[in-house]
Amino acid sequence: MYTQALDIPEPRQQAGEAVSTIAEGCDLPRQAQFDTKIDSDRKIEPQDWMPDAYRRTLLRQISQHAHSEIVGMVPEGNWISRAPSLKRKAILLAKVQDEGGHGLYLYSAAETLGTGRDSMLAALHSGKAKYSSIFNYPTLTWADVGTIGWLVDGAAIMNQVPICRCSYGPYARAMIRICKEESFHQRQGFDNLLTMMKGTSAQREMVQDAVNRWWWPVLAMFGPPDTDSPNSALGMRWGIKRISNDDLRQKFVDATVPQAKILGVTLPDAELKWNDARGHYDYGPIDWDEFWAVVNGNGPCNRERLATRVKAHADGQWVRDAALAHADRKRAREMKEAA
Ligand code: 3HC
Repeated sequence: MYTQALDIPEPRQQAGEAVSTIAEGCDLPRQAQFDTKIDSDRKIEPQDWMPDAYRRTLLRQISQHAHSEIVGMVPEGNWISRAPSLKRKAILLAKVQDEGGHGLYLYSAAETLGTGRDSMLAALHSGKAKYSSIFNYPTLTWADVGTIGWLVDGAAIMNQVPICRCSYGPYARAMIRICKEESFHQRQGFDNLLTMMKGTSAQREMVQDAVNRWWWPVLAMFGPPDTDSPNSALGMRWGIKRISNDDLRQKFVDATVPQAKILGVTLPDAELKWNDARGHYDYGPIDWDEFWAVVNGNGPCNRERLATRVKAHADGQWVRDAALAHADRKRAREMKEAA
């Protein structure tokens, strides 16, 4: 449904915007080398010189992204023990494990920028770090699991395929594998919903109810409108972000409307209609007050999600201790044998 193609021709900078990336007192020759690499679409690698602001921007985005994958395991994890069949349970287990893996690749990519995983996790657990707004909504029925796959993972793919072309090598490479796995997540969600839509009227109502609740939060998940997105200009200039929040949102709406028709569900927006002149679907206004309330910690499940995450980390302490003790003993044994 969603292509993995990376050849989406997009401007790296919003039209007409002049963005200065040169900090006062910066190392001009190295800055020039860095700019040349960015302009010629070559990758920046961990050992390369980079401006502090580029490093900070990447760390901000990659660590938030990693936290989103990790917290994203929680809403669906609730349903593993309640999946309706062995097949659906195995699929959901695999998906949730994939999300955990995505978080780990991304923490590793962020670590190459010089920040330790412990400090990133401390920021998440103390509530200082952001993670995606979408994971602060409840999963009330089994149809929510399918809807998360179809819409949330679908939106994630739309946002993340362009990041496979990100200028920072470790982030771009991590995203290639992540996007392949997200594609499976989206398809299993769609397949789950399609099965329910062929079932009883109660099942169809469950799907429609889940779609009604997730549609608007998913559109907001792409981030604030471009006019209200403080990080976009530099992110685009540096090739971290390739397509703007609004353009990705539009691409998502355009791709999803035909899928909704195949499923037989209604998208809950009376203003959603094809606009011939624009060559896109028009859609109604997004409730940005709700979005910012969720981002600022006041969504329906923010406290619950963070508490679950902190508990899971604390419960896993004995595993980390055991792994470290095993590594220490192994190292001591090897040193003794080598002596
Ligand atoms: N949830 C929470 N915060 C959000 C947000 C969202 N959906 N969208 C934007 N924000 C925050 C930004 O982080 C920024 O805050 P900060 O300055 O304190 O960091 C502020 O709102 C302003 O937004 P900007 O548009 O200026 O920020 P960006 O240029 O960074 O764009 C982004 C936001 C599009 C989310 C971008 O960071 C991005 O593409 N990130 C990588 C992808 C990602 O993190 N996806 C999260 C979902 S992962 C997922 O869904 C898992 C999958 O398995 C389902």
